[in-house]
Amino acid sequence: MIETSELRLEPMCEDDLGAVIEIERQSFSEPWSVGLFRHELRLPFSRCLVARGDNRAVVGYVCWWLVGDEVHLLNLAVHPQYRRRGIGRALLEVVLESARQAGARLVTLEVHHDNEAAQGLYSAHGFVQTGLRRNYYAPGRHAVVMTRYFPRVEKREASPARRAT
Ligand SMILES: CC(C)(COP(=O)(O)OP(=O)(O)OC[C@H]1O[C@@H](n2cnc3c(N)ncnc32)[C@H](O)[C@@H]1OP(=O)(O)O)[C@@H](O)C(=O)NCCC(=O)NCCS
Repeated sequence: MIETSELRLEPMCEDDLGAVIEIERQSFSEPWSVGLFRHELRLPFSRCLVARGDNRAVVGYVCWWLVGDEVHLLNLAVHPQYRRRGIGRALLEVVLESARQAGARLVTLEVHHDNEAAQGLYSAHGFVQTGLRRNYYAPGRHAVVMTRYFPRVEKREASPARRAT
């Protein structure tokens, strides 16, 4: 669990799904179903977190997969009344930190080509456009693929000959 003065980030559980679905419906034209969230909660390589406000109400959530050395960010949304308060950033930063700790090579995602808010959030966190999937959501509704790469940390053995004396 991650805690700040106003926000707690905790694993999503079955009891959260009612609130999550409300946010989902207000956030996307093709919202995930409850069944889809339940499926994610059972997958061993899937992680879902909720952000709770002061009264413990769910104000946002994020779901991602860690598969091999890649992280796929599947879903991220913040309740419309709580946007522009840094909650989306806090949720994304947890995903990035989790990817770093797992030694992932990259984090990738699809975002609607018109979604300036989300693209702004991702760009601000080092994501770059790496593809375009035409008609991905529906005819005329394309997905921009965005990826954040992590530099490989080379572990070099210090050569005795070059070791400082
Ligand atoms: C995208 C979303 C998750 C952002 O959440 P948020 O809590 O409002 O974002 P934050 O307050 O943490 O903003 C962080 C940064 O994102 C960018 N951003 C957020 N909203 C923005 C907007 N409406 N327009 C432009 N940039 C925006 C900015 O760079 C912002 O930094 P700043 O406030 O210092 O300018 C939220 O708008 C949302 O739930 N949208 C609907 C669902 C969605 O599109 N999810 C993404 C699917 S890929």
